[in-house]
Amino acid sequence: MHIILREGNLFQATAPFAVLGVWQDEPLPTDVAAFIETEDFQGKSGQTALLYPRGTLPARRLLLIGLGERDKTTLDTMRRAAARAIRRAIEMRVEQVAFSLASHTTLAPVEMVQAIVEGAELGHYRYLDHKTDLSPEQRHGVHELVILVRESNATLEQAAATGQVIACGAGRARTLANMPPNLLTPARMGEIAQEIGQQHRMNVRVLGPDELQAQGFGGLLAVGMGSEQSPRFIIMEHGQAGPNTPTVCLVGKGITFDTGGISIKPADSMDNMKMDMGGAAAVLGAMQAVGELKLPLHIVALISAAENMLSGRAFRPGDVITTLSGKTIEVLNTDAEGRIVLADALYYAQRYKPTAIIDLATLTGAMMIALGPHAIGLMGNNQALAQRLIAAGQHTAERVWQLPLWDEYRDMVKSGIADIRNTGGGRAGGAITAAAFLDAFVGGYPWAHLDIAGTAWADEGSREYYSRGATGIGVRLLVQVLRAWHEA
Ligand code: BES
Ligand code: MN
Ligand code: ZN
Repeated sequence: MHIILREGNLFQATAPFAVLGVWQDEPLPTDVAAFIETEDFQGKSGQTALLYPRGTLPARRLLLIGLGERDKTTLDTMRRAAARAIRRAIEMRVEQVAFSLASHTTLAPVEMVQAIVEGAELGHYRYLDHKTDLSPEQRHGVHELVILVRESNATLEQAAATGQVIACGAGRARTLANMPPNLLTPARMGEIAQEIGQQHRMNVRVLGPDELQAQGFGGLLAVGMGSEQSPRFIIMEHGQAGPNTPTVCLVGKGITFDTGGISIKPADSMDNMKMDMGGAAAVLGAMQAVGELKLPLHIVALISAAENMLSGRAFRPGDVITTLSGKTIEVLNTDAEGRIVLADALYYAQRYKPTAIIDLATLTGAMMIALGPHAIGLMGNNQALAQRLIAAGQHTAERVWQLPLWDEYRDMVKSGIADIRNTGGGRAGGAITAAAFLDAFVGGYPWAHLDIAGTAWADEGSREYYSRGATGIGVRLLVQVLRAWHEA
């Protein structure tokens, strides 16, 4: 989508489709009030009205979008309104949209512009790669978004560009997680990481089965063993470490399909487990954005990619495996595979002596039960890092909620015969015992674990800028944390 910032207001702009955000229970601008009954449109959040000014205004169509109460406005209000507008434009097969920046909020214009661009691009996203017969609506796209501002300047232009880069990163993550598991294999994920790295001159290495064997990635190999698709370990490096350049490791769970293994999952909605690489997708999408934004940090992406299948070679409940760290894991349930592949990745992260490690994983059904689709669960060993993520979550509306990680939970993953076991023994505290397991592999480095099991996938309509499918959750959050790194 081509984004243009233009000075002026809606009552001057000729546009096929103009959009005006309206605050709840506040008088409409007189030019608009002339041709709508205010009793029909109060500006409630999500309310819309499409007007045809017929020459009264230069715009051919005018879409009013309710923004809700003015003092409850957040950046997400703007994202959602922009997404709604774009969807309406697509339905009507209009190619150009003019959006007027709502006035008089406490939000800074730079933030608003970025949010509008994000919302527009996220709302425009569709996954149509496998449709061979597109409907006219599906074929249609909005090519141009004009944002009407009081005063244009380089900072606003940059905010628009930033919004676009971030939304594009989220789109990349959505597509990866939407991709069917026969097409997105661990090997393919490795190739995609190479492609992203090449575009931004990053150093990328992809370790295949032989190298994993040679280096001792016992966790990743065990989980990948049942599949014909061999596992990969992906390392991407942006920038380099320095006295004022912290190293942040982003670790992603990349299970391209999770059958549960020998501890097989029920058939119902098993297809959804193609999104079990949502953490890896977020890391890849964030790396793409980080490269484009040229962030002044040393950022290392580490992804464990494997397919969790059943076969005569698959790992079993009862197995004891030796991980990269040398620590042994007693496997109680092969469906708790994410933590096993992450164990190797988190241990690998220690070689960078990182300032922070952030892992993202669709790790537990328990997290989905605990927080539902509205918050990412966070656990970790460092409160300053947790606070950074919580603050970024408020800013991006990829909200983060912390759960405790007390020693009692660590006790729950002790094993009688190995160093650790891969479940808490029962379902109780399942999201936290998973985190307690991961904690054993981070070597005390500042670390935060984000369980995105509940948030990586959306059912239709859960947010204006989500469509049914992958949400790309984590990309905007990570980019925000990294952009704000030097501010805290
Ligand atoms: N990938 C799943 C978790 C998941 C469930 C993600 C639903 C997204 C939606 C994970 O590998 C898993 O199967 N976890 C088990 C762990 C249990 C066996 C200890 C779970 O949550 O049931
Ligand atoms: Mn599983
Ligand atoms: Zn899984």
